[in-house]
Amino acid sequence: RDELLFSYKGILYPATFCSPEVFRAMESLEARSDDIILAGYPKSGTNWVGQILNDLVGIFEKKTQNKESSMNDEELEEFPYLEIGDTGKFERMNKLPSRRVIFTHLLPENLPRSIFKSKAKILLLIRNPKDVATSFYHFSNAMSPLPSYETWDDFFVAFMTKKMPWGCYFEYISKWNKYADDENVMTITYEELKEHPVLGVKNIAAFFGFSPTEKELQIVVERSSFQSMKKNSQKTHGAFGNLLFRKGGVSDWKNHFSEDQNEKMDKAFEEHIGRTKLGRKLKYEVYCK
Ligand code: A3P
Repeated sequence: RDELLFSYKGILYPATFCSPEVFRAMESLEARSDDIILAGYPKSGTNWVGQILNDLVGIFEKKTQNKESSMNDEELEEFPYLEIGDTGKFERMNKLPSRRVIFTHLLPENLPRSIFKSKAKILLLIRNPKDVATSFYHFSNAMSPLPSYETWDDFFVAFMTKKMPWGCYFEYISKWNKYADDENVMTITYEELKEHPVLGVKNIAAFFGFSPTEKELQIVVERSSFQSMKKNSQKTHGAFGNLLFRKGGVSDWKNHFSEDQNEKMDKAFEEHIGRTKLGRKLKYEVYCK
């Protein structure tokens, strides 16, 4: 288990995906004010919201640059996660045309400084911790580069004791909390997007300065529905497709958490983030009780 992860600045990462060299090279990224940064703790719905953002960019490019439909399922020029790749990635990214959509699971303090300096807009995606843990458990057991767990109980202990790749959920939310009021940061929850997808996509579009028509909005919502993304996943995500689109809903935690685990999670939530802005935004009473 230990060989699969390495520690960098106090946070664990999977060695198959990340490396200290790539973290160091990352400082050479020249962020732009029109970059679209999607930040979220793992398993918060990154691929879902990433698809929405890429489609919005596709529609915009088609309109403004007369490109053939850019809204397609072809492979992207660079793997979209900032911290995953090789050391040459950032120089190549510097040459990519705008607008770039960049995903990341990093804490704000570990992002390249130019992201904040450039005033690139950041969409912060958050999801309730019980469903995040449930999703992370299944993903860890399905993905060989991540440590696997014999039982859900083992996983729960690891999740609650900061042993996760990309660090601790609560630390992630509390660190990002300091940015929640910035005008360049918009927060959206997995749960609100699931409940009101049209409104969610509309708000995301407005934040990044896109103005899709009602029909375009409908197309983006339809293409990003769990069913369509799952159906398309072989094409868009290759062998990982099956692992990434698991249940795509709210409350699967109810099939996993014991009473004692519920109590522990409720207590940790209250203690670490319950009274913070992002904590309240998660509507814990609605989605985790
Ligand atoms: P579950 O494991 O609960 O099903 P990430 O992309 O950050 O790794 O997050 C993965 C989680 O988002 C998985 O949750 C996955 O099923 C869910 N997901 C992916 N696409 C989705 C979609 N279009 N709508 C809703 N949930 C989606």
